[in-house]
Amino acid sequence: MRRPLKLAADGAHHTSARIHDERELLKLEALYCSHGDTVHYADPPKLFERCEGSFLYDAEGREYLDLQMWYSAVSFGYRNPRLNHAVTAQLDRLPQLASQYLHREKIELAAHIARRVENTWGMKGRVQFNVGGSQAVEDSLKLVRNARGGKSLMFAFEGGYHGRTLGATAITSSYRYRRRYGHFGERAHFVPFPYCFRCPYGKKRDDCGLYCVDQFARLFDSEYHGVWDGKAGECEFAAFYVEPILGTGGYIIPPPGYFEKLKGILEARRILLVDDEIQMGFYRAGKFWALENFNVKPDIIVFGKALTNGLNPLSGLWAREELINPQAFPPGSTHSTFSSNPLGTAVALETMKMLDEEDYERMTALKGAYFLNGLNELKRRHRTIGDVDGMGLALRMEICGDDGFTPDRAKVDLLVDEALKGDLEHDGKHYGLVLDIGGYYKNVITLAPALSISYGEIDLALALLDQLMNRVAKRRAQHA
Ligand SMILES: Cc1ncc(COP(=O)(O)O)c(C=O)c1O
Repeated sequence: MRRPLKLAADGAHHTSARIHDERELLKLEALYCSHGDTVHYADPPKLFERCEGSFLYDAEGREYLDLQMWYSAVSFGYRNPRLNHAVTAQLDRLPQLASQYLHREKIELAAHIARRVENTWGMKGRVQFNVGGSQAVEDSLKLVRNARGGKSLMFAFEGGYHGRTLGATAITSSYRYRRRYGHFGERAHFVPFPYCFRCPYGKKRDDCGLYCVDQFARLFDSEYHGVWDGKAGECEFAAFYVEPILGTGGYIIPPPGYFEKLKGILEARRILLVDDEIQMGFYRAGKFWALENFNVKPDIIVFGKALTNGLNPLSGLWAREELINPQAFPPGSTHSTFSSNPLGTAVALETMKMLDEEDYERMTALKGAYFLNGLNELKRRHRTIGDVDGMGLALRMEICGDDGFTPDRAKVDLLVDEALKGDLEHDGKHYGLVLDIGGYYKNVITLAPALSISYGEIDLALALLDQLMNRVAKRRAQHA
């Protein structure tokens, strides 16, 4: 039988027992955990014991500055006292309730989000909940099909990611997620994202005149381009699924004017705009909704992740009243046992109140500019950093060869592995860095620090990234 963890008098595990236990855990994991539900990027996989603010801690008490915060699900810092308290208070009062009955938190949360959209964009609408981002995307697909006579064809972006359920993978660009399992519904038509650093049309941002949108518009010039019946004035496609800033695709920020021009085409063709804010929503990109940065209105918004700061799972969608009123989208159109669970809605409601009380727009703009300035400084010092960019606290660092352009995936893998060793040094202390990789060529370090990160922690992040770049360059040079 497996030895139970030894506990010290203060409740903390003895370090040596923990390390021993960690080895046993990894053995068990290798034997009994399906690896189908995740990818272990590190070998051996990394175990963490504790977290606080911007930091994770391993069994040996080493500190890791997290610069990706669970893919932006923990935007408000680990163990955020106010949000944790919302969970425990709900746990003490009404922790569970079937979703056919009502509880105050669900109603107040829906009203809060719907009113916010109304104040921002002047549109009335309603909100419904589910438990994960992919599930909210599935619900949105039903809404769209329902609103457009059952049409199942969607536009989506190259580089876009909307989840791994069978419906969501159909509108997610990577074939890798479909190859073995197929997908439900029709596969999306994938439209190039305006990735100006690597423009798919070989143009330059300064004088391209948004050529990429013109290429999309061209599809509607003639019925022979395969999407538009000019006589009926009808498009075969029901909606365009967008991430305002690509998340998994590498935190790519579109140029000014792009979305305005795109939305003009969609509106003229009655194609719905579905705004996937699952990764970029809730001030990650400097505004409550990332799409607010681009001066266009969505028809449907899907959201998740940071809504509960990564505590009890909750996701949801907002849709225009015309699409989601109970006559158009009748009771029971979607359902999940846990969909508007009291713990999730309670913490989400507290998140919303917190966001109203502080000026997150100003705070993320200032911290984001400071961080980006530091990244630009790093780019000047390391020629293999081909591009840095950022909006709010969604930041990117594209790692390339010596020409500053050719993607260097192997180097990024090395950077991430070295970062996780926990032996970088600053002011006499050891640190690790938690980094995430994204991008079409898996050569982008996508940075999503806690929005609560301090300026001192940003300085620490920049110093550690600098050290990491130097270390990997040296190692590479030794092996050349
Ligand atoms: C933009 C976007 N959409 C959808 C999803 C899927 O969300 P979940 O992983 O909660 O199913 C993600 C997750 O990374 C995402 O980033």
